[in-house]
Amino acid sequence: MKQVLLIDTDPGVDDALALLMAYAQADVAALTIAAGNVGLGHTVTNALRLTELVAADTPVFSGCAEPLVLPAADAAFVHGADGFGDAGLPLPQRRAETEHAALALIRLTQERPGQLTLVALGPLTNLALALRLDPGLPQRVARLVIMGGAVTGRGNTSVPAEFNVGFDPEAAHIVFSGWPQFELIDWEATMRHGIALERFEGWLAAGDARARLYDAISHKIRGFMRERKRPGIVLADALAMAVVLDPDCVRRAEHRHVAVELGGQLTRGATVVDWDGRSGKAANARIVLDVDQSRFEAMIAAALGA
Ligand code: BDR
Ligand code: CA
Repeated sequence: MKQVLLIDTDPGVDDALALLMAYAQADVAALTIAAGNVGLGHTVTNALRLTELVAADTPVFSGCAEPLVLPAADAAFVHGADGFGDAGLPLPQRRAETEHAALALIRLTQERPGQLTLVALGPLTNLALALRLDPGLPQRVARLVIMGGAVTGRGNTSVPAEFNVGFDPEAAHIVFSGWPQFELIDWEATMRHGIALERFEGWLAAGDARARLYDAISHKIRGFMRERKRPGIVLADALAMAVVLDPDCVRRAEHRHVAVELGGQLTRGATVVDWDGRSGKAANARIVLDVDQSRFEAMIAAALGA
């Protein structure tokens, strides 16, 4: 039976690939949208564009336009000012629903208790708000998979912080401290699972309409990866989605307690992992450390129609 996914996301170039993977293999009950990579207007528009590309009538719910407490810088310098590589795509015909994303998360999980897998690919603002409004939310969700954090302090937005957690640390704190068990795919795992650019670009050339769209929106980010001498193209949200869709692709994982630093002159937004059990706190996270690279890549190629 197909999994049914509720995806909270801030598309975003790698979010877009994760969504294509989801549509290729699962049912998508709804997309709830946060600000993050770029402003909320763009992330909602991009989510709607994606649903049109795959001819899905998935409802799209617009959520929080700002982090819960402090303003944060977006990642337009990576994803483009419009979040989709400034590829000049036409505007979508579809419109977002009027219900707020946090309320939709609560309602949809009430309607289908225990049936939905919740996938968080952006800052955790909408989830945190939903959890504050309804602390019973985790009991109605089959599984929560989060892309976020840097589990040994090698971040991408500051020295120790990863973007999704660093953009809204208070939201991440609410979710990490209030959700009994979740799976975490962090930035450092992402960096261990880069894909050779030549191979990736081969799929873009060989694939269908999904590959053509992805070719256009990822042009800028591929240039950025080349400049930064990244280990090929690194696709954080796609890696998280691979774990969602194929849990058996995980090769190494550790259960640990993870907390979020909210203060700190150098460390706000860092994920603090209790690797040695010093805190005495029960593990809240299953930290995915490695996946089967060939299975990960096969999922991406299939999602691009290559
Ligand atoms: C995360 O930050 C965003 O820029 C990406 O879409 C991904 O969700 C990686 O740190
Ligand atoms: Ca994202």
